Amino acid sequence: MNPEPADSLEIVFDGTPLPAVRGQSVGSALTDAGIRSWRSTRKRHRPRGLFCGIGVCYDCLLTVDGRPNQRACLVPVHDGMRLESTEQVRHEPSQEDHDV
Ligand code: FES
Repeated sequence: MNPEPADSLEIVFDGTPLPAVRGQSVGSALTDAGIRSWRSTRKRHRPRGLFCGIGVCYDCLLTVDGRPNQRACLVPVHDGMRLESTEQVRHEPSQEDHDV
């Protein structure tokens, strides 16, 4: 289903403009844009993004409009929203990421 033009908006992730739809969560918009992770674990630097999707695990933390440690799965997008990954590092999933 294509969104109505009035529902389309733009967010900016680490300086890159991305399309989003009114009512989407930040995590959903990033995932739709093909971005699967936006922070790394402290010790082993493993990529993290959406996991539970309901605000429980805190895997999805990022900076939203200058406010650090916001849960991407709970924050709704708004036009012009500025998002920053925690370490300015994006990851693509690999088999190693699934190893414990
Ligand atoms: S994905 Fe678990 S808190 Fe956001």
